Amino acid sequence: MIVRNGRAKCLAMAGKGGTGKTTLSGLLIKYLIKKALTPILAVDADANANLNEILGVEVETTLGEIRDRMKSDTPANMTKNEFMEMHINQAIIEEKGFDLIVMGQPEGPGCYCMANSILAQVIEKLMKNYKYLIVDNEAGMEHLSRLNLRDIEVLFIVSDASSRGVLTATRIASLTSALGVNVGEKVLIVNRAPQDIPDALNSQVEKAVSKTALVFGGYIRQSDEIFRYEVEQIPILKMDGSSQPVREAFSIFEKFFPLYNTAACP
Ligand SMILES: Nc1ncnc2c1ncn2[C@@H]1O[C@H](COP(=O)(O)OP(=O)(O)OP(=O)(O)O)[C@@H](O)[C@H]1O
Ligand SMILES: [Mg+2]
Repeated sequence: MIVRNGRAKCLAMAGKGGTGKTTLSGLLIKYLIKKALTPILAVDADANANLNEILGVEVETTLGEIRDRMKSDTPANMTKNEFMEMHINQAIIEEKGFDLIVMGQPEGPGCYCMANSILAQVIEKLMKNYKYLIVDNEAGMEHLSRLNLRDIEVLFIVSDASSRGVLTATRIASLTSALGVNVGEKVLIVNRAPQDIPDALNSQVEKAVSKTALVFGGYIRQSDEIFRYEVEQIPILKMDGSSQPVREAFSIFEKFFPLYNTAACP
C-alpha cells in the first residue's frame, strides 16, 4: 500500500435497489484506473456484498467479521482500537490500482455503536493512504452513516429509465442533508435507458434537475454486454473500452473529474 499524506476524496453511489449502483461503481473504478487517479479504496457497504464480483476479486474477511471478533477476542492488554488497527489489514484486498474493503453484515440487535464508531475511525485513518474512496451502497442512504463520512465529493444517484424512478432519485438527493454529510455535487445517472430516449423521459429529467440540486450526468443504455458479463460472471473491469456502456459511463465521469485531477490531489 502506498502511503500518501493527503485525504481521499469520497465518491459514493446511491439509488433504489437494482438500478445499477454496483455496476457503475465498477465502471467508475475502471475509469479512475484508466486516468491514473489512483490509489483507490473501494468500500462495499452493501450487506449482500457483490462489488468484488464486478471487480473480479475474492473476499476472505469483512470488516464486520473483525468488528465481531474485536468484541470477544481483544486481549486485556490491548484497546479495541488497537485490535481493529492490527487486524484491519486482513480485510483489505490489494489489487492493481485499487484496494477493496467489504463492510459485511450490519450488527444485530443491541447497541454496538462503539464498534461502529471504531470502524469509522479506522476508515478515517485509511483515507490518508488513497486518492479516492469509492463507496457502493445498498438502496437507502443510512448505510453511508455507518462510515460516518463528513464529506462526499460527488454522490452519483442512479435511477432506472422511468418517471417514477427519476422522482425517487430526487427524493434520495434531498435525504442527504438529514445525514449530516456535506455533498459537493449530486449527479443523476439514468441507467438501462432505451437507445432512443423518449421526449417524456427527457422532460422528466429536466424537471427533476431544475427543481433540485441535482446535476444530470447522462444516460447509460440497456446493454446486452452488461447482461452477458453478468451471466457469464466476467468482471465488468475487464469490459472493452470501446463498448457502449463503458463509453457512456466514461463520458459521464469525464464531466466531473477534470475538476479534481491534479490540483486536488498533491
Ligand atoms: N445498463 C445496463 N444494461 C443491462 N443490465 C444492467 C445495466 N446496468 C445494470 N444492469 C444489471 O442490472 C442488475 C442490477 O445491477 P446492480 O447490481 O449494479 O444494481 P444495484 O443498484 O447495485 O443493486 P442493489 O440495490 O441490489 O445493490 C445486474 O444484473 C446488472 O448486471
Ligand atoms: Mg449493489
